[in-house]
Amino acid sequence: MSQPLDVLGGITAEQFLSEYWQKKPLLVRNAMPEIANLLEPDDVMELALEEHVTARLIKQKDRDPNQWSVKSSPLLKADFQKMPKLWTLLVQAVDHYSFDLSEMWKKFPFIPQWRRDDIMVSYAPQGGSVGKHFDFYDVFLVQGYGHRRWQLGQMCDAETALVPGQPLKLLPEIEVNFDEVLAPGDLLYVPPGLAHYGVAEDDCLTFSFGFRMPNVSDMMDRVGDKFSENESLRNPLVDIIRDQVGAIGEVSGNELEYLKEQIMQQLHNSNVLEDAIMTLMSEPKYPENLPEAEEIGTGDLEEALDQGYSLMLEPASRLLYTEADGNVLFWANGEGIEISEAFTTKLKQLADVEIILLDENFADEDILEDVAALLNDAVLMLVPPAEQD
Ligand code: SIN
Ligand code: CO
Repeated sequence: MSQPLDVLGGITAEQFLSEYWQKKPLLVRNAMPEIANLLEPDDVMELALEEHVTARLIKQKDRDPNQWSVKSSPLLKADFQKMPKLWTLLVQAVDHYSFDLSEMWKKFPFIPQWRRDDIMVSYAPQGGSVGKHFDFYDVFLVQGYGHRRWQLGQMCDAETALVPGQPLKLLPEIEVNFDEVLAPGDLLYVPPGLAHYGVAEDDCLTFSFGFRMPNVSDMMDRVGDKFSENESLRNPLVDIIRDQVGAIGEVSGNELEYLKEQIMQQLHNSNVLEDAIMTLMSEPKYPENLPEAEEIGTGDLEEALDQGYSLMLEPASRLLYTEADGNVLFWANGEGIEISEAFTTKLKQLADVEIILLDENFADEDILEDVAALLNDAVLMLVPPAEQD
């Protein structure tokens, strides 16, 4: 992957990863021309009112724009009545609703799937913004429609002081060292912690390609869940060897060491740890966006072979794998999945977000059963011939 990439303004992925990723911002003009006008303001308004969509409507008071309010979904038409001059509508996971948009992730093949979060879109009229703030995650901000002025400033962290008494995590000040207006197709990479402030210059849509990273607390929760599923660990431990009589009220250092050691021994079971981590990382963020799949059988699939249908990962689903010593294990939507050996290579390709043709290579009962199960669980989806490029 060492060729220069247009989406990165002509630098290579390796250069971007070593110099910019998690470190400093990068502005690329006309990085993603395909995204221009993919959605229009009215589309975002309509989407925000749909059932299951995760959205927020942020308003600033006309009398005092330093007073903010946030209304979270479900949003109703009435929420858009009596609007102040300054407001922003944020809609999460638009990549689960627009196939064309989810295809835009392909512009970032140098960041693995498990680090991806979702694509959020913001719609604001002139002057609208979500305030000066920082995020804990990496984001590629891509202008989709209209123009937005971006100011970037200081590095912040969990200790940084925020404006008190507001429903958003706002910074009191931004020490501006970057000030540019982005037009459709322009991209701005913002690393975690960097203060940023984007103000709409006109009716504007901005797409945030957001990334995620698990935290230790969530991983520990999952590890706890996995151990609590193991019945044998519910039996009381045998007592420590008692060769001395100690103070009645004290838990001695020896005793504590013994108990801690029992936990540590379990934690060395790397299969359980891997399962816990993979379970967490393959969990879909918006399970309500998983479509209700139409029940399909192996017979239907057999008929569909060589008809031009393709298989791909359902955009709202997460499918991940690990590979060690030729042994491939899969997790889909928060659960470990078992598939036949014959399907392994193909499922790896699907997890790598390749679209594969449902051809005679699928003419195998075990493979068809696996495909049917994954289609019925909405992990995979069938793409009809007409919808492909
Ligand atoms: C926006 O699009 O207005 C907000 C995106 C962000 O600041 O992360
Ligand atoms: Co932000």
